[in-house]
Amino acid sequence: MKRAVYPGSFDPPTNGHLDIIRRSSRLFDGLIVAVLENEGKAPLFSVAERVELLRTVTADIPGVEIQSFSGLLVNFLSRTDSSVVIRGIRAISDYEYELQMALMNRELAPEAETIFMLPAVEYTFVSSRLVKEVCRLGGDVSNLVPPSVLERLRARLQTGS
Ligand code: PNS
Repeated sequence: MKRAVYPGSFDPPTNGHLDIIRRSSRLFDGLIVAVLENEGKAPLFSVAERVELLRTVTADIPGVEIQSFSGLLVNFLSRTDSSVVIRGIRAISDYEYELQMALMNRELAPEAETIFMLPAVEYTFVSSRLVKEVCRLGGDVSNLVPPSVLERLRARLQTGS
């Protein structure tokens, strides 16, 4: 069984993430979307909320499960018997950071491979950070996030709940 892990912050999950999840899920027997528990980042949504949002938006995609993790990604890979890391690359500007991470992970776990996936062209400018900023300022992000995420984003950013 070939299992891949798609790690990230997913604060919140966007249509770009969902596109990468759909594409990757077709390539592997199983795909674990892994939400990083990162206390340092002051996230908008708690890890439990992000896991729940991801479960909702991926419910129709076969072979996908959602988990959270802390510590090194390579340790999570071996705990879950996974050999592949999926990362989405939107533009060349993503590449430098992604290359560093992929090579550091290779240093730590030479048996694991990182695969870079391209999202659909219409999501190449979408990031969780910009989605939050635009939504906070009252802009329309309904094309950029799934409806369940939009609802929670608006509630949190526009009414504070
Ligand atoms: O969505 P993000 O914030 O770009 O995801 C970054 C993530 C979670 C993939 C990365 O920070 C990570 O893997 N963190 C776990 C800690 C770790 O293994 N660090 C060394 C990797 S080079």
